[in-house]
Amino acid sequence: MADGTAKGFVLWFTGLSGSGKSTLAEKVAGELRSAGRKVEILDGDEVRTHLCKGLGFSKEGRDTNIRRIGYVAHLLARNGVVAITAAISPYRTIRDENRRLCGDFLEVFVDCPLEECMKRDVKGLYKKALAGEIPQFTGVSDPYEPPEKAEVVVRTAEESIEESARKILAAIRAHGYLA
Ligand code: ADX
Repeated sequence: MADGTAKGFVLWFTGLSGSGKSTLAEKVAGELRSAGRKVEILDGDEVRTHLCKGLGFSKEGRDTNIRRIGYVAHLLARNGVVAITAAISPYRTIRDENRRLCGDFLEVFVDCPLEECMKRDVKGLYKKALAGEIPQFTGVSDPYEPPEKAEVVVRTAEESIEESARKILAAIRAHGYLA
């Protein structure tokens, strides 16, 4: 049953395409729901099909995408929901802007070497990016600025999904958002 008195917060995943953001977001969301929390996931790929449809991958397009996600996450969190975001969110200043807006904000850096993301290439996009068929691809031909003060860093090339999820849940508890 949902615990209506629990404090909402934003769990902000950031990392390269293919680093494991969505997988971990789903895993952690499941655990939080089992603990009685209301959870919404704002996933980059999904958000770009409605809330942010038509936005491209220029710096301006990405910044607008991330600001919209941050705004919706803020609205959800202030109503007691755990808002989990899973977009690359490559620019530190925009992530930090959302941190200030949301207040209750935990940043999760999904740290995975570019070579490993390329090897996984779940969506086949790195192959295309390397062939020059997708311009401005994060990590290949567009920047990614890793966080300097993330509350949690998970290393998905070395840890299992379970280990990474455990670290994230431990951080949520340590910050007082989960009993
Ligand atoms: S963000 O930079 O604005 O945060 P977002 O997470 O919404 O990106 O979308 C990233 C997803 O869009 C990738 O996982 C990939 O599937 C797809 N994509 C398409 N073009 C690009 C690109 N140029 N750079 C990065 N990802 C892209």
